[in-house]
Amino acid sequence: MNDADMNNPAYDVIVVGSGAAGLTAALELATRLKVLVLAKGSLTGGSTAWAQGGIAAVLDAGDTFENHVRDTMVAGAGLNDREAVEFVIERAPASIDRLCELGVPFNRDDKDLHLTREGGHSHRRIVHVDDATGWAVQSALLRAAQDNPNITLLGGRSCIDFITDRHRENFSAAGRVWGVYALNEENGAVERHVARATVLAAGGAGRCYLFSTAPRGATGDGIAMAWRAGARVSNMEMMQFHPTCLYNFEVKNFLITEAVRGEGGRLYNPQTGKRFMAYYDPDRMELAPRDVVARAIDAEIKRFGLDFVHLDISHAGADFVRSHFPTIDEKLTGLGIDMTSEPIPVVPAQHYTCGGVVVDLAARTDLPGLWAAGECTESGLHGANRLASNSLLECFVFGEAAASDILERWDTLGEPPAIKAWDATRVTDSDEMVVIKQNWTEIRRFMWNYVGIVRTTKRLERAANRIALLKQEVEDYYGSFVVTTDLIELRNLLQAAELIVRSALERKESRGLHYTLDYPETDEEARDTVLVP
Ligand code: FAD
Ligand code: SIN
Repeated sequence: MNDADMNNPAYDVIVVGSGAAGLTAALELATRLKVLVLAKGSLTGGSTAWAQGGIAAVLDAGDTFENHVRDTMVAGAGLNDREAVEFVIERAPASIDRLCELGVPFNRDDKDLHLTREGGHSHRRIVHVDDATGWAVQSALLRAAQDNPNITLLGGRSCIDFITDRHRENFSAAGRVWGVYALNEENGAVERHVARATVLAAGGAGRCYLFSTAPRGATGDGIAMAWRAGARVSNMEMMQFHPTCLYNFEVKNFLITEAVRGEGGRLYNPQTGKRFMAYYDPDRMELAPRDVVARAIDAEIKRFGLDFVHLDISHAGADFVRSHFPTIDEKLTGLGIDMTSEPIPVVPAQHYTCGGVVVDLAARTDLPGLWAAGECTESGLHGANRLASNSLLECFVFGEAAASDILERWDTLGEPPAIKAWDATRVTDSDEMVVIKQNWTEIRRFMWNYVGIVRTTKRLERAANRIALLKQEVEDYYGSFVVTTDLIELRNLLQAAELIVRSALERKESRGLHYTLDYPETDEEARDTVLVP
């Protein structure tokens, strides 16, 4: 057994993921418990570090919680759980206070926090750090975790599966989670990390799609692991496409923040020169919710045979643009685009996974011993379409909720049993890495083409057939060869794709992000799509 193969637990709680949700939970847990945080690749490799726009919170005297609740539920097309929406929104100001205490340097107008605006928000309520909020938040949380003697951070660990009662030396009924098996990416060993409580905070599944703003590791690992262990997942068909991702041959997944439209940016059809949102949503124009704007861009691109549309904020003046969007300006300048004097070519791209592992308000999953928070979950907040900048907020509120519940119930959680070591005796090294690459590309391509912004039953069935074939191949491969991060990710990506397609086929209506030509109407009653393993 190597040092990291912890059958005798040295930690009280294991947190999978070092983004906003995972580190928020870890910091709260560490007030009393010893916490191990595991992350795939680098500790800053999740989506959190890439967030641009900011964090939504009611901080202005003219704004109210009720306004924020209403905006969230309008964007979510009524599929939201009102109790969850209120739970998160009422805790937003306290979350911002805590981030200020951790030293996040939010922009200010004199003393007050500067609030920007994004699509779907009826008021200015987005706190931000220029146009690179995520990096500031990720750095502050990581600094605090690194300084905390009760937290151990281990990057380079790809978690493979949850350890459950199935993995006990003396097998009993499956169900309770006792930690994770994780691949040490450096030495190739599979480690047991055993603890009384586990918090899943492994982010979304954006990389199921060919074009996505999400980082490389967003392969739905957490959702797939929880599903395999027996947890329900919900609303996986609700994949959010951000309207404005940079269109560029060199840079494939660079986001142009919604705050550009919030601060007056306009969308034009480059062929007609027309401001086309006037045809799709004349009242809200560029500030309509994301699903509306993304579908409008998609329709213009298809109707006119375009490669991209134009996003223009040059009318705001060079000083304004440079001071509000320094990161984007610098990036675009490096690519030969001057956003202060010319429009930016943009296309929609997958951006956020609204569905995920079902959790309650205490962040409990269906599985005893497993809590979950952040983008890998379906908490009821987002419904059929996430309102801009509500996602980081959900990470803080549910990360904290998970920690509070674990601390409260700590004495009832019980000591972990003896757990079997990972069995690698029946597998060999793969000499066919090309299989992984080929399958990975194929999944992302057919998900983009068949399960994208506008869907049909026929296309979804095509995707389901491809998934069934690939599943057999990938499971055979997984059972025969030594695990690598690429193989773990491929298996999870395929599992997540299957859950998305199954959910999309189950929804016989169009609502929010799920738009199908076969069922264009919206049902009177909003119902979650819940898949049971
Ligand atoms: P992440 O930050 O994605 O972290 C996931 C963690 O899990 C990582 O540490 C990863 O390494 C780890 N992990 C994954 N799989 C495994 C595994 N198998 N084993 C071990 N570890 C694993 N939201 C907003 O509210 N405001 C914004 O302005 C905003 N801008 C965005 C801009 C971009 C470009 C993107 C992509 C997203 C943006 N979002 C924004 C969404 C938001 O950033 C994410 O939803 C949020 O950061 C998710 O946080 P998380 O903690 O759930 O997951
Ligand atoms: C953005 O800055 O446009 C992203 C905001 C979000 O995803 O909430």
